[in-house]
Amino acid sequence: MHPDPSALIDLGKRYWLPVYQPREVVLDHGKGARVWDTQGRDYLDFGAGIAVNALGHQDPDLLDALTAQAHKLWHASNVFYTEPPLRLAEELVKASGFAERVFLCNSGAEANEAAIKLVRKWAASKGRAPEQRTIITFRGSFHGRTLATVTATAQPKYQQGYEPLPGGFRYLDFNDAAALEAAFAEGGIAAVMIEPVQGEGGVVPAAAGFLKRARELCDAHDALLVLDEIQCGMGRTGTLFAHAHDDVTPDIVTLAKALGCGFPIGAMLAGPKVSEVMQYGSHGTTFGGNPMAAAVARVALAKLSSPAVLMNVERQANDLRAGLARINHELNLFTEVRGRGLMLGAALTDAHKGKAGAILDHAAARGLLLLQAGPDVLRFVPPLTITDEELAEGLTRLHAALSDYAAS
Ligand SMILES: Cc1ncc(COP(=O)(O)O)c(C=O)c1O
Repeated sequence: MHPDPSALIDLGKRYWLPVYQPREVVLDHGKGARVWDTQGRDYLDFGAGIAVNALGHQDPDLLDALTAQAHKLWHASNVFYTEPPLRLAEELVKASGFAERVFLCNSGAEANEAAIKLVRKWAASKGRAPEQRTIITFRGSFHGRTLATVTATAQPKYQQGYEPLPGGFRYLDFNDAAALEAAFAEGGIAAVMIEPVQGEGGVVPAAAGFLKRARELCDAHDALLVLDEIQCGMGRTGTLFAHAHDDVTPDIVTLAKALGCGFPIGAMLAGPKVSEVMQYGSHGTTFGGNPMAAAVARVALAKLSSPAVLMNVERQANDLRAGLARINHELNLFTEVRGRGLMLGAALTDAHKGKAGAILDHAAARGLLLLQAGPDVLRFVPPLTITDEELAEGLTRLHAALSDYAAS
């Protein structure tokens, strides 16, 4: 018999550092795009653990990879080689089409931290003084919670109280090519760091041509183009890498989240300009390239690159957009639905601004796990393997939840 969920939730309230405020649901197990709580209630999962469980829950191939490795070797650190991270690095390089080397780590923040350090080391290797190593990031971005990545994150709400913040970052409006040109004209820029689709900041894709313009400016001013694909990469937009839509070649790409499909792992991919900059001892982490994580990520990479999964993204994205349009036709809650592939955001109208959290409560009550992207946007990032039936049922539950909200 499962323990009373409210007794479990009380443990979190009593013992966790109160940095998270989860919905009052204790999840127990999952299968495909469905999850069950400790009371046996089922939920359709349109959040996928914040865009992580891209192959849904209990994917049999991921399970096989994890259990096979678990019976061999759990950890060796970086002072010895093991096979899974060696193979994974080669496979990531080949899949990327631009990278020469890979740094494996444990999370998105760590991958971006490595990217920031690599940019600075590269600029230092060119004899540029510290004040000539500025990294441009964009308002609405999210790059992580470590001190450097939260500083790269151009949203004051994540930074307040953590001052003094490290220097070396400059913020511009997202998709403002003229501002980018002006910043480059002032000089001292070492890199531009961009999410091809901003996630936490409201599910906002880069405007057509923006990444290309950023690439041109980086080339003209000898700066690096860093793409944070931690949320939008690994097939989520319908291509393995999100920047394939923008037809640019980056210098650095960071991955995490769906790279491990639920097993923690991050990666920084380094292109030819920067792949030889780091030397022995320059950077590291105990768990980076952990064989269990790498064994899982190899399978995740293979499956998320497959035509079957990528075609399903397109198919389900069309159905999800159509379903959201139908619901909105009746309830008139959204100004727009934006995003790419299975990374969609429904922006709430003025009358409902700030109510995303309340809507998520109604969704959970109707058996749907949903995310917000800030207070004004509902975020849809289901497993990329979601089936027609799962999507249809999720939309039915969403319709019920939104009707409850509208009537409340
Ligand atoms: C675009 C992006 N970058 C970085 C991060 C940070 O990743 P992590 O939470 O694994 O440190 C996130 C997490 O939401 C993200 O969406």
